[in-house]
Amino acid sequence: MAVERTLSIVKPDAVGKNVIGEIYSRFEKAGLQIVAAKMIKMDEEMAGGFYAEHKERPFFKDLVGFMTSGPVMVQVLEGEGAVLKNRELMGATNPQEADAGTIRADFAESIDANAVHGSDSTESAAREVSYFFNEEEICPR
Ligand code: TYD
Ligand code: MG
Repeated sequence: MAVERTLSIVKPDAVGKNVIGEIYSRFEKAGLQIVAAKMIKMDEEMAGGFYAEHKERPFFKDLVGFMTSGPVMVQVLEGEGAVLKNRELMGATNPQEADAGTIRADFAESIDANAVHGSDSTESAAREVSYFFNEEEICPR
């Protein structure tokens, strides 16, 4: 399998629950390396641009409101099959449907406050990584 990069966000609900470290630990135990990271508070323009693919969806306004409601941790994960591996660690979008032991099953309350974001393909990963990070901010080991 190829070494990939994927964009991960610990969302405001999980930052508020003080579980950044527990979530990072799951990435590390699964063999993913954190090669860039920063805490930011997004404004509407930044969150709306990030979720532009969902602009016409009924939940878009609430999604932007939620993503700007508090600080988030944004990181680049690197490793073999990182995109799919991270999606497996996250679990289903709706935590009620997420497999036991996944991040969303363990830390998320609802479909709109669901603890983490992860790129869904290598193409979105490339766009999403560059949305938040310059190449100089990424430190592969
Ligand atoms: P989506 O890309 O479908 O899910 P994922 O985060 O698993 O890739 O949707 C983006 C976010 O939009 C999702 O994490 C939470 C929010 N959302 C809702 O609030 N309600 C919904 O019905 C859906 C599908 C998503
Ligand atoms: Mg998605």
